[in-house]
Amino acid sequence: MSTPAKSDRAAWLQGPSAECSAVPAERKNPWRLILLGAPGVGKGTQAELLTERLGACHLSTGDAFRAAGMQSSCSQSPAMRAALEYMRRGELVPDSTVWEMVRERSDCIVNCGGFILDGFPRTLGQAESLKELMEKEELSLSAVVDYELPLDDIIQRLSGRRTCEKCKSVFHVTERPPKVGGVCDRCGGHLFQREDDRPEAITVRLEAYERSTAPLIQFYKELGLLLPIVAKGSPDEIMARTMEKLEALSMRLLA
Ligand code: AP5
Repeated sequence: MSTPAKSDRAAWLQGPSAECSAVPAERKNPWRLILLGAPGVGKGTQAELLTERLGACHLSTGDAFRAAGMQSSCSQSPAMRAALEYMRRGELVPDSTVWEMVRERSDCIVNCGGFILDGFPRTLGQAESLKELMEKEELSLSAVVDYELPLDDIIQRLSGRRTCEKCKSVFHVTERPPKVGGVCDRCGGHLFQREDDRPEAITVRLEAYERSTAPLIQFYKELGLLLPIVAKGSPDEIMARTMEKLEALSMRLLA
């Protein structure tokens, strides 16, 4: 499989008026995936690796909110300013604000050569909104990958995470360190620690996950879309495990 050019995801991160630097080629059977799992389980890391293999766009609602947070506060809508406050505390942003942002960017879901949704949907309401949009566009999901990891590992991953200010690549101080401390390997951008990786915000995020997001596991299981994956081991090992299940699925769909 050849490596597709990596998109800067401008249309997703900055909104529909921006244009992506590289758009995935049209594909006959594009991958349309959702990544589920607790905060810090490694969804963003896997989304980056899978994007390189599958050529689908990495669509993270957390990244889109953080990109909005980088804009000057006068260019942020009141709803967006409120959303950024929810994020700082580790709480979920209200469904109406999330859906407004996703709906504005629905071209990335509908017209892209496939997608990997990371951090969305996160509530049953969001899952229903996505289902309606996809039904209206006559699109179907390929699978919902659910990453599973014990709580202690999750906390260790979150507390050592560093993220690139520019391209949003994700590192870890011990598990996935950059070649030069504090500098992104991919684009040379500055690496920072997310505000919601403070211990008190981590607790709130894990509670929000259990309360609002974990029920999606049953929702997608009943739709026959769930692919559970053990998220232990190195990022490459987890990616290989994921690819193995996706390849088996694609063989079944072609049979
Ligand atoms: P979001 O950005 O989506 O954060 P999250 O779901 O909490 O997930 P994370 O980004 O924290 O973790 P991850 O699973 O992607 O792990 P990562 O790959 O970075 O959302 C943030 C906030 O935005 C929410 O709290 C909410 O307020 C708001 N929001 C966003 N979407 C929303 C929605 N739909 N509805 C409502 N609110 C919404 O990895 C973590 C660390 O571990 C990294 O340092 C990484 O290098 C390391 N690592 C990864 N894999 C491995 C491995 N295999 N071994 C060792 N280390 C590893």
